Amino acid sequence: MVTARAYPNIALIKYWGKRDDELILPVAPSLSLTLDAYPTTTTVTLGGERDSFQLNGAAAGEVATGRVERFLDLVRDLAGSSEHANVISHNEAPTAAGLASSASGFAALALAASRAYGLDLDPRALSRLARRGSGSATRSIISDVAMWHAGTDDATSYAEGVDAPELAMVIVTVDAAQKAVSSREAMRLTARTSPFFDAWITSTEDYLAQMLTACAAGDFTKIGELTEAHALRMHGVIASTEPPIRYLLPQSVEIFDAVADLRTRGLEAYSTADAGPNVAVLVQPADAERLAAELAEIVGAGKVRAVGSGQGAHLLSGPAPAGE
Ligand code: PMV
Repeated sequence: MVTARAYPNIALIKYWGKRDDELILPVAPSLSLTLDAYPTTTTVTLGGERDSFQLNGAAAGEVATGRVERFLDLVRDLAGSSEHANVISHNEAPTAAGLASSASGFAALALAASRAYGLDLDPRALSRLARRGSGSATRSIISDVAMWHAGTDDATSYAEGVDAPELAMVIVTVDAAQKAVSSREAMRLTARTSPFFDAWITSTEDYLAQMLTACAAGDFTKIGELTEAHALRMHGVIASTEPPIRYLLPQSVEIFDAVADLRTRGLEAYSTADAGPNVAVLVQPADAERLAAELAEIVGAGKVRAVGSGQGAHLLSGPAPAGE
């Protein structure tokens, strides 16, 4: 029995679009901040007649269970095992509301399951494995700021840490309901129908290069400007699909505007949003509580949470790897 924990990450340079659906190879590199809140904690126990998956205290539905079973098949292939597994997960974030529970979920599962099956994978191999569950999970294996190399095959598409200044975020929950179109489906639609998809890829590569320079220089202003602009580009290319998809709600846009207004009043912060209406506002740690208080004035204190940068996937209990 092995228990592992992982946290969601919020991309500053977004992943949107796959060049290979089966291997989950992205069309472009991306970069994210792993958070220190909303963890997924997962326990894997081998044995039983078939795989089972319990999420937040109840048996998970067919679709989620199928995804977990297919993921366990990959781990079994690596380990040369045919044993079934019992997976029990707890998510502290609202599932599928754009708070990246699939990232923390598959990162925790990759670590717990690989250890339960007797594998001792290094961070690169773990991040490649997590990638097969959900693209963004690739980055949740890594602490703090992580870059996911797009790569050209399974071996070259993985995440690693990037040196960057200390960053914080204020998460604004606009709507905790399940999103209408999954990111998987919406990415496919974007690649197939958006006339701007090629430009999205080249602009992401360009922004990523600029972001790495800004991180190395410790230039928070540049990091923030790139973050906000890239998020708007992603939502722009998503809005250009046929039929169009829009994840942001009026209140999401209101938060973007409020943050821009706070900048003019000397509180430096920048907004981003994933495939959902919730907004994550990037800020320097010293300003996080002040920003949270300002945003709570707009949406209510219960919907605002200041978070810091967090640890990559780690074990809470289980067998020590061979040699330790
Ligand atoms: O990992 P997925 O398939 O849920 O994709 C997530 C994509 C975004 O969250 C919108 C962007 C990102 O880079 O995390």
